[in-house]
Amino acid sequence: MRVVSIVGARPQFVKLAPVSRAMRAASEEGEGAVEDVIVHTGQHYDTSMSDVFFDELQIPRPAVHLEIGSGSHGAQTGRMLEAVESTLLETSPDMVVVYGDTNSTAAGALAAAKLQIPIAHIEAGLRSFNRGMPEEINRVVADHVSDLLLAPTETAMENLRREDLVERSFNTGDVMLDAILFNSELAEQKSSILEEMKLAPGEYAVATLHRPVNTDEGNLIRVLDILAEVATEHTPIVFPAHPRTTAILNSGSTSWSAPDELMMTEPLGYLDMLKLLRHARLALTDSGGLQKEALFLATPCITLRDETEWPETIEAGGNVLTGSSRDKVLNAVETWLSSGSGPAVAADAGAAPFGDGTAARQIVSRILDQLGIENDLAPRWGQEK
Ligand code: UD1
Repeated sequence: MRVVSIVGARPQFVKLAPVSRAMRAASEEGEGAVEDVIVHTGQHYDTSMSDVFFDELQIPRPAVHLEIGSGSHGAQTGRMLEAVESTLLETSPDMVVVYGDTNSTAAGALAAAKLQIPIAHIEAGLRSFNRGMPEEINRVVADHVSDLLLAPTETAMENLRREDLVERSFNTGDVMLDAILFNSELAEQKSSILEEMKLAPGEYAVATLHRPVNTDEGNLIRVLDILAEVATEHTPIVFPAHPRTTAILNSGSTSWSAPDELMMTEPLGYLDMLKLLRHARLALTDSGGLQKEALFLATPCITLRDETEWPETIEAGGNVLTGSSRDKVLNAVETWLSSGSGPAVAADAGAAPFGDGTAARQIVSRILDQLGIENDLAPRWGQEK
């Protein structure tokens, strides 16, 4: 049996790593020989956004690299659709797996659906209920054309139930929890980011921005000014800048420059980011992944958006939504800095909102089921629909 995983953007490499490892383990345990074929669309192409993740997360090299690169949403997705279709015709997979909510997810799912190849969507059922976000469109498209919907939380299951998709949905827990459990000690040992940046644990915050709502010209400077104020008045901030942000700042249309306390860096690798986040006083971000990683590592989080696909992080008391309101951000910073660390979510079997750290095995088990391969890979929980 051949399973093709389609990935292209940074967060997808993090999600792919545990799944690819679990597929290899299933074959080694004799639970079903699955040929794991990785197709990289090339949506993210800088070494710091792509290669470093394959190296650190020990993901096998992609069998096919489509080198699509940047473009407007329509152009980028259209080029991917055509190239993925050719690849699927050449590789004849038994199943296609797509991850998360990027343009690579939507293009991969659509190409497979039109060729009538069964599709599994990992991280199914997430909704921000904001159709202004390109990611929301990608999620809805991927969920509705997929055959197997692998949801990370009960909230995601509930969203799928509301859209009448629950019959093909399973709560497997979240692969990003698997990734953290596998890598956080490794990050402690291998990353020297604190020494390199001369940072003491607990004496800095970390920030990331990449959503168009915060990084597009017009909003970017306003949000950066807020970060600069937090950095100079409250706590120094390490700010690994997304290429989109750097490109706007270097375009010559703005003369903004960061104060010394707002330390802008290149995008960081996964292990450096985990170590940095674990020892930070606070995270400020518009990333979905970072909201959860902060919770798993007990670092309080401020989300620079008006809504989140991960309400569990707020219910657990580890995250607050501020949008890009200066007053709300400053209030949240003061509250977190006076209250110390955030709560960590324990990985209890079936009880924690993000599962028990075995999501990848559960996912592979469901994929094998779907392919008609009997297996005993994972105990099942969260099966009620
Ligand atoms: C994409 C995903 C988002 C995901 C994010 C993680 C979509 C719609 N969005 O957003 O869900 O959370 O990735 O980072 O798919 N660029 C480079 N080098 C790179 C990659 C990008 O310079 O390696 C620049 C390009 O100028 C590009 C811009 O960044 O135009 C944006 O990249 P793009 O792939 O369109 O989306 P992201 O903003 O990264």
